[in-house]
Amino acid sequence: MLKLKEEVKIVMIYLLIGFGWIYFSDKILLLFIGDSVQLNQLQTYKGIFYVIVTAIIFYFLFKKYLNDLRKQHQKLEAKNKKLIESNKKIDTINQELDASLKSLEKLNKRFVKMISFVYSLNEKSNLNEEEFLSDLLYNIIEIIPEADYGKIYLIENGQCNFIEAVGHDIDALKQINIFEKSLLDFDSEGVNFSKNYSVNIDDLTSAKKKDFKKALKNIKESMYIDIKVKNRVVGRISLDIAENSEQNFNQGTTHILESFSTLASSFFAYKRFDRLQGKFTKELISSIIKILEIYDEYTKGHSENVANLSMLIAEEMGLSEETVLDTYWAGMVHDIGKLLVPVQILNKTERLEEFEYDIIKKHPVWSSRALADSETLKHISKYVLYHHERWDGYGYPEGLAAEDIPLVSQIIAVADAWDAMTSNRSYRDSLSKEAAIKEIKNNKGSQFSPRAAAAFLRLIDKKELEAVKNKYENYKGMI
Ligand SMILES: [Fe+2]
Repeated sequence: MLKLKEEVKIVMIYLLIGFGWIYFSDKILLLFIGDSVQLNQLQTYKGIFYVIVTAIIFYFLFKKYLNDLRKQHQKLEAKNKKLIESNKKIDTINQELDASLKSLEKLNKRFVKMISFVYSLNEKSNLNEEEFLSDLLYNIIEIIPEADYGKIYLIENGQCNFIEAVGHDIDALKQINIFEKSLLDFDSEGVNFSKNYSVNIDDLTSAKKKDFKKALKNIKESMYIDIKVKNRVVGRISLDIAENSEQNFNQGTTHILESFSTLASSFFAYKRFDRLQGKFTKELISSIIKILEIYDEYTKGHSENVANLSMLIAEEMGLSEETVLDTYWAGMVHDIGKLLVPVQILNKTERLEEFEYDIIKKHPVWSSRALADSETLKHISKYVLYHHERWDGYGYPEGLAAEDIPLVSQIIAVADAWDAMTSNRSYRDSLSKEAAIKEIKNNKGSQFSPRAAAAFLRLIDKKELEAVKNKYENYKGMI
């Protein structure tokens, strides 16, 4: 059917009514009125009536039309305003993201340096306590940007032996004998805060007090934690903020310092007591991974679970011992790139916006890039890069499919999915074990590698998952 434009329709209706009115009203008048003078007069009234009626109709039509226009205009203006506002928001978010990405990238590099340092400790078995503590202090100061200065000392025969200092004068400190009884007492476990240097200056003789003050920079506040072995305090790490600094220590700093103290305690336990080298390195790397998990509060324990389960799957598949160990380590560090994802996105409880999801999807690339920088860990960087690829090619970051995906990555993908499905997340409760097993069965050959999924399902049949946490003990000395 011919579609007419709105304005043509109106004009045609107007013409029809106009002509109809003129034609029929004249005919009716002629039927009843014979007198030509009276007819002329009525013709005039009829004309006036016509003009008035059409004017009224036009008035209402225009009024409605203009009102509609005004409303549309207002709506458009409101939409425009919203658009401008959301553009501004996106701009600020982008700027914030840029800034946090830059600072986190630095932080990530430092963590990798730390992991790589710990990983290489096995080869440096002759590293003595003092070398270890010096390295540790420099790493802490690098990772905790609020701290301007720091010092680390061992407590031996009731006396402090200063090992290393950043900012303060270590040579002068080494000359001063400070007894354990002059250290600040505290009742609570963990990190402590003070306006002093973790030393009670009033308890020192006046000569020592003078030397001590000379050796130290002026500070605003101090934060310190004990290094303990079997509940005995063997040393202390203390960090200071410069007197004129704007910064303060915060909750995040506390967690990081706690992890470093665990690291130091493990080292001493190893050096002085059990010497279980494999277990030692595992504990050290786990404690660093725990620092990473501070940033992603809902994935606590995830790295360790994935590492343990991946190792079991690799073992079940009959892979070489070397590959089994690589699988373990790749599982342990697979999500390290998440450190570059802003915390507000990582821990968001509402649905993610598309751009936020895109950022999260970059973490395998960031993980692998970080590891590729490390001489000791670069051989596992490709396993980490492909841990979100799918067997059918619909994964990320490259959309690799089937055997193009490294076998270790195929294994980690299964372990990662299992742990994600069976643990609670901020946005959902965990699936039951039965439902998660069904999910892996149903997606074997589409999402998951058939070989890795089959090996996982065999483990389930053998009920070996319960033992997963202790299984790494078999590898003592290797991991
Ligand atoms: Fe991941």
